[in-house]
Amino acid sequence: MPNLFRPSANAYAKLSLALSAALPVLLITVGSGVSRSSANTGVMNHLDQPVPFSHKHHAYELGIDCRYCHTSVEKSSYAGIPQTETCMTCHSQIWQDSPLLEPVRQSFATGQPLKWTEVNKVPEFVYFNHSIHVNRGVNCNNCHGQVQQMQITQKGRALFMSWCLECHREPEKYLFTDEKNPQMSPRQQVFNLYLKYQSDPLGDEMNPQEKSLIFGNEQKTNVKALIERGNQLLKDRGVRKQELTDCTVCHH
Ligand code: HEC
Ligand code: HEC
Ligand code: HEC
Ligand code: HEC
Ligand code: HEC
Repeated sequence: MPNLFRPSANAYAKLSLALSAALPVLLITVGSGVSRSSANTGVMNHLDQPVPFSHKHHAYELGIDCRYCHTSVEKSSYAGIPQTETCMTCHSQIWQDSPLLEPVRQSFATGQPLKWTEVNKVPEFVYFNHSIHVNRGVNCNNCHGQVQQMQITQKGRALFMSWCLECHREPEKYLFTDEKNPQMSPRQQVFNLYLKYQSDPLGDEMNPQEKSLIFGNEQKTNVKALIERGNQLLKDRGVRKQELTDCTVCHH
């Protein structure tokens, strides 16, 4: 395992001590299906931001690739939040007078970074890595919801352990492939889906999995065929399914 995780050895150490003791408790907690209302999941809560940045405008309508702003998402554990300079490559020339962009101009002039409110966060004792997911073809929307349609960024999923495990137990249900573009790597398919949606806003050309990722509504699919194809994709992409539910995958 590459040494990419955050330096919070203390929390990790405490957790690994706690793990052996916690397991029975945890199983009971998970088993009893603790009620978690949207108030404590934070899903779709409105958040204050210094600038009303719209993914709908930038990612969907303008078609800017996620990686233009989240530059490290396919290379490292962090996706990265863009610096003011990235905004100014366009906004020094377009919408220069917009009052909404005043904080961006201020930040550029003073060198003080914008203070974006964090939307998604897992606790310190959880290890997460973007690049491995993106490179296996797990789409952003699987974990973040329909980002490309958000006017103000919101949390699309609660990111509870049960959600991580749901996929880690049966990743074959979540991987997909674009049969019309078999030459594309899984990673390319992740980003291509947004472009595809731009040219096909009703999703007529999409397969059911792609459609549900983009529109958020669970599509009725042929589950047997889905799993068969998924199992093939696990092999092709070298996913080590057997190990994915080990506690140490996410808690070092
Ligand atoms: C033009 C730049 C830009 C592009 C393109 C862009 N984003 Fe963002 N993104 C931002 C900025 C700025 C923020 C922080 C402000 C906010 O949360 O809205 C952000 C925040 C996010 C967050 C929440 C971060 C957190 O705090 O948890 C997610 C998730 C996200 N983007 C996903 C995407 C996805 C998926 C795409 C491609 C479909 C994308 N972004 C394209 C600029 C961009
Ligand atoms: C590739 C060019 C490009 C980049 C990079 C870009 N924008 Fe934009 N942005 C635009 C365009 C074009 C519009 C106008 C969209 C429209 O209304 O049609 C816009 C509109 C906006 C608006 C709405 C302005 C208004 O008065 O309605 C805000 C706010 C904004 N952008 C913030 C940002 C922020 C913050 C960043 C950096 C994280 C950013 N933009 C990066 C091209 C860009
Ligand atoms: C398997 C689930 C998953 C996938 C797939 C995923 N993310 Fe995330 N994302 C997370 C989690 C969990 C966090 C919180 C990480 C933390 O607290 O360190 C996060 C945080 C973020 C953040 C906040 C800042 C940062 O650097 O981490 C951004 C931006 C983001 N994701 C963008 C994206 C984009 C863009 C994609 C697709 C290219 C994507 N994510 C795919 C789960 C995911
Ligand atoms: C939709 C499916 C999906 C979801 C949701 C998901 N994962 Fe994953 N995860 C994968 C796949 C696929 C891999 C790649 C495994 C491989 O290639 O062997 C992976 C790998 C990982 C790895 C790297 C394992 C290693 O040995 O390098 C970590 C860490 C991880 N996931 C943490 C998380 C966490 C934490 C969450 C929840 C916030 C999460 N994942 C949610 C599908 C998912
Ligand atoms: C795929 C990633 C993943 C795996 C595997 C995993 N966890 Fe977690 N775990 C998480 C995440 C994410 C959280 C934080 C959940 C939250 O914020 O609510 C968490 C939280 C916890 C907590 C804190 C209490 C709680 O429920 O929030 C304990 C204890 C824990 N895990 C124990 C375990 C044990 C024991 C195992 C092995 C049986 C395990 N975890 C396997 C991702 C994982």
